[in-house]
Amino acid sequence: MKEVVLLTGAGQIGMAIARRIGYGKKIIVGDKKLTNAEMVAKTMNEAGFDALPIVCDISSRESILNLIAEGQKHGDITCLINSAGVSPSQAPVEAILKVDLYGTAVLLEEVGKVIARGGVGVTISSQSGHRMPQLGNAIDEQLATTPTEDLLKLEVLQPENIRDTLHAYQMAKRCNEKRVMFEAVRWGERGARLNSISPGIIVTPLAIDEFNGPRGDFYKNMFAKCPAGRPGTADEVANVAELLMSDKGAFITGADFLIDGGATASYYYGPLKPKE
Ligand SMILES: NC(=O)c1ccc[n+]([C@@H]2O[C@H](COP(=O)([O-])OP(=O)(O)OC[C@H]3O[C@@H](n4cnc5c(N)ncnc54)[C@H](O)[C@@H]3O)[C@@H](O)[C@H]2O)c1
Repeated sequence: MKEVVLLTGAGQIGMAIARRIGYGKKIIVGDKKLTNAEMVAKTMNEAGFDALPIVCDISSRESILNLIAEGQKHGDITCLINSAGVSPSQAPVEAILKVDLYGTAVLLEEVGKVIARGGVGVTISSQSGHRMPQLGNAIDEQLATTPTEDLLKLEVLQPENIRDTLHAYQMAKRCNEKRVMFEAVRWGERGARLNSISPGIIVTPLAIDEFNGPRGDFYKNMFAKCPAGRPGTADEVANVAELLMSDKGAFITGADFLIDGGATASYYYGPLKPKE
């Protein structure tokens, strides 16, 4: 038996994090697309890791429970890396809410029931959640605490209140941040920690879809005009995750970390500020 890492979303960010913290552990790689899970598991196994690919759709509780059951066959689940998600150019509003908002909430809830003492999780949110105006205490509390099966029934998430896929994505990512705070309290009762990371533009297949999508120029302008002047890499996100998931991060839980090359700062107080 080994310590078990659950990795959901076999993308560049998830793999970069798993490579930092997964050595010597059993890594269950779950992705909606088995081919993606297989590709990441193969790359990792050929680099000395012990990874097992399986199908997992985080928008289904049953599929999440199946992932957990698979993990438990190999040992105690000590780490969760959630990097599964769909972007505004990849999916319609309904799918974004189902995967990025509901799916993430269910995953944090279910893994929180089984995470080992001393365990740690990270979920990948986004800078997008930081761009939206504050929603107020009442809505924040709803996003944080509403039972998972009722989340998508919230008034604020109804189709008439969601403008477009970007808005749905922002709501999902804002919800992730609040949900992490709520769940960190529960995870803490088990001696475990949970945080989120909100990356800016990171070069991955998801971001490349965005560069080539209807908002391509918007994205290219964003990294050109942010203080760093470039997009980031998955390995830079993994630097933050490694801190959060190691003992050096032992006092950090229930928090969100923005890593965006300063794009959000520029959006509020610099050249990326939207024209009135
Ligand atoms: N790349 C960026 O610029 C960027 C910026 C901010 C946030 N993010 C977030 O990072 C996360 C990972 O994105 P990435 O850039 O590594 O993308 P990626 O495309 O490399 O990987 C995402 C993976 O998630 C999988 N996936 C999609 N829906 C799923 C579902 N329902 N269940 C399980 N797996 C599913 C996809 O098949 C894919 O393999 C996402 O949540 C995304 O919103 C990315």
